[in-house]
Amino acid sequence: MTSATYTFIVHVLFLLPFVQMVTGDGSLYHICSTTSGNFTAYSPYEHNLNKLLGELYYKTPPNGFGMGSVGQYQARTSGLSLCRGDVSQKDCMNCVVNASAEIRRRCPNNRAGTIWYDQCLLKYSNSDFLGQIDNQIQVYMWNVNNATDPSSFNIETKRLLSDLSNTAYADPKMYAAGVVDLAGSQKLYGLVQCTRDLSDVDCKTCLDGAISKLPSCCDGKIGGRVLGGSCNIRYEIYPFVGI
Ligand SMILES: *[C@@H]1O[C@H](CO)[C@@H](O)[C@H](O)[C@H]1NC(C)=O
Ligand SMILES: *[C@@H]1O[C@H](CO)[C@@H](O)[C@H](O)[C@H]1NC(C)=O
Ligand SMILES: *[C@@H]1O[C@H](CO)[C@@H](O)[C@H](O)[C@H]1NC(C)=O
Repeated sequence: MTSATYTFIVHVLFLLPFVQMVTGDGSLYHICSTTSGNFTAYSPYEHNLNKLLGELYYKTPPNGFGMGSVGQYQARTSGLSLCRGDVSQKDCMNCVVNASAEIRRRCPNNRAGTIWYDQCLLKYSNSDFLGQIDNQIQVYMWNVNNATDPSSFNIETKRLLSDLSNTAYADPKMYAAGVVDLAGSQKLYGLVQCTRDLSDVDCKTCLDGAISKLPSCCDGKIGGRVLGGSCNIRYEIYPFVGI
C-alpha cells in the first residue's frame, strides 16, 4: 500500500485559485493563486519574493519552521516554510530548497502560492496572512483501498488523530506523531502538524477542522491526508514517519 495508490481531490472552502496537480519533482500538490494578481519580472515584488525565499532557506532548517515578510506596501510579501516534525535539518533544507525553486517555476508571476511535499510546506503571499488560519483551501488525499472493518477503522483513526491534536497544540513544535495497535496485529500511524505562526488555540481549531473532514476525505480508507495552508493531518497503516 504505497502512496502510488493515492488519489486526491481539492476541496475549496473559499475562493477558487488556479489548481494543478504536480508530478515529477516529488511535490504532492501546489496552488498558484490567481485571485492575488500577478507581478512583473524584475519588479520590486519579485525582488522581495526572492529575498524572502532566500531567508526561509536558512531560517527553516534549524528548528523546522521559518517565516518572514519583506518589503512595503504593494511590494510586500510574506511567507513561511514548515518541515515535518521528524525530518533532519539536512532533509528539511533540501525540501525547502526544492520547494522554493518549484514554486517559482510553477507560479512564475503569481503574487501568492503554496506547495506541499511529504517533508515540507512552503507558502508565500502578498497578503499578511501570518498568524491566521488559512481557510482557503484543503487538499484531500486517500489510499484507494478500504479497511476490512471501515466503521471501527474510522473510529480508531479519529481517536488517534484527535489525541495527537491535543498533544500537538500544546507542543512548542505544534507537531505530534504516534502509533496505536489495531485488531489483528495491524498498526495505525498518525501525524498532525500546524504552522507555528498560529496561536495554540488556533492550531487546535485548525487540526480539529481537518479531522472533521475525515468522513468526506477518507471514509473507511486505509490511508489519508488533509493538507491545508496552516495545518495538516495524515494516517497510514505503515510507518511513514519517525516516532
Ligand atoms: C496573470 O498571468 C497569467 C499567466 O501569465 C494570465 O493568464 C492572467 O490573465 C494574468 N492575470 C492578470 C490579472 O493580469
Ligand atoms: C529535491 O530534489 C532533488 C532533485 O529533483 C531530489 O533528488 C530530492 O529527493 C528532493 N528532495 C526533497 C526533500 O524533496
Ligand atoms: C471501497 O469501498 C467502496 C464503497 O463500498 C467501493 O465503491 C470501492 O470500490 C472500494 N474500493 C476498493 C479498492 O475495493
